[in-house]
Amino acid sequence: MSEEILKVDGVRLNFYTYEGVVQALDGVELNLRKGETLGVVGETGCGKSVSGLSILNLIPPPGRIEGGRVLFERRGRELELLTEREAIMRKVRGRDISMVFQDPRSALNPVYTAGNQIVEVLLHHRAVDLIQRVIEQLDRRIADSKETESEKAVKGGKKTAKKGAGFLTKFYRNSLQRLLDNPKSRRMKIVRRIPILNGYRKMVKKEAKKEAVEILRIMRIPDPERVVDMYPHELSGGMAQRVVIAMGLACNPEILIADEPTTNLDVTVQLQILQLIKELKEHFSSSIIYITHDMGVVAELCDRVAVMYAGTVVEISEVVELFRNPLHPYTRALLESIPRPGHPFKSIEGTVPSLINPPKGCRFNDRCPYAMEVCHTVKPKIVEVKKDHFVECFLHE
Ligand SMILES: Nc1ncnc2c1ncn2[C@@H]1O[C@H](COP(=O)(O)OP(=O)(O)OP(=O)(O)O)[C@@H](O)[C@H]1O
Ligand code: SF4
Ligand SMILES: [Mg+2]
Repeated sequence: MSEEILKVDGVRLNFYTYEGVVQALDGVELNLRKGETLGVVGETGCGKSVSGLSILNLIPPPGRIEGGRVLFERRGRELELLTEREAIMRKVRGRDISMVFQDPRSALNPVYTAGNQIVEVLLHHRAVDLIQRVIEQLDRRIADSKETESEKAVKGGKKTAKKGAGFLTKFYRNSLQRLLDNPKSRRMKIVRRIPILNGYRKMVKKEAKKEAVEILRIMRIPDPERVVDMYPHELSGGMAQRVVIAMGLACNPEILIADEPTTNLDVTVQLQILQLIKELKEHFSSSIIYITHDMGVVAELCDRVAVMYAGTVVEISEVVELFRNPLHPYTRALLESIPRPGHPFKSIEGTVPSLINPPKGCRFNDRCPYAMEVCHTVKPKIVEVKKDHFVECFLHE
């Protein structure tokens, strides 16, 4: 996969509902390169969110992925995420690929504080890192107490000399080391149940909370020490959105899938969040899939863009190239429908088709002014028309 980090290859997804089979994704093709931001745009219901969920193999019932592959290059090894074992997927989700969901309020658990929810992510995916930090702190404490012990011994003789670091400090240090060496240690399973001996767990949690405050600070949340203890209902919309992004970035993922993270926010907060995502991408050097229906956001933020229509990617190219030279009739109509001062308002003729009985052949055929006979019977293939500019339309095959 050369510079590609992720490849979605012909994914098909159906929802088996009482009304019928919703053919939500019809062979989605996408690729994401290292360090880039890929925009995914399209009208409501075209399959943007379910494409993101498919990548993580998180489609809820009654949905079922019926075909295709999602290839992800994880530390030099290629994984097929749709068939990978659940144990591996639990590591991939959040640690390697994380998703910021469309509605921040429903993504946050109302009974836990913002901090607790970030801490939970950190403990699940970055426990080793946190344990190592606590061990270092305990080592320093032990070394300091040895120094003071010897100083006092020199000054005041044997009588004034205190004993070195307490028994518990050393016990916690050794317990954490044991956990690092063997996370499934039977002895540690017993120790963690004994209140006075399991204080090391609190220390790791405290370290995770410190990290959560730091992440909230990077998110430019004012007064992060206070916000970390706030419940979701106490947060403003912009704050909740930042907390959800913070959870997504907590583990420094290789890929962040951001599903309309600025919808429902006022324009100034929207701009701040976009700016933040740009900076975070540099800071964490992640690759981003940015789902939106806003072409302005795509122009501002993305390197490449994939245009979706009724469950398929119809065009994919670099942003500037797409704005200058849109090839698919739907992309052209979409760009023409962006409101511009002084220009008459234009909308795309017709409505998005039902995905229970989608049109045969090209799914855009009932709205396309260039539709030919073949468009009603055969689905076009996506082809590279120019370097890095792919389109799925018989006008260009
Ligand atoms: N749980 C579900 N049960 C049945 N159909 C579903 C379910 N989830 C999604 N769908 C269908 O899958 C299609 C794609 O949905 P998706 O949420 O991906 O749209 P979207 O492009 O993200 O839209 P929006 O811009 O409104 O967020 C829609 O037709 C939707 O009705
Ligand atoms: S394949 Fe046919 S119907 Fe579809 S966009 Fe192209 S010309 Fe229009
Ligand atoms: Mg959506």
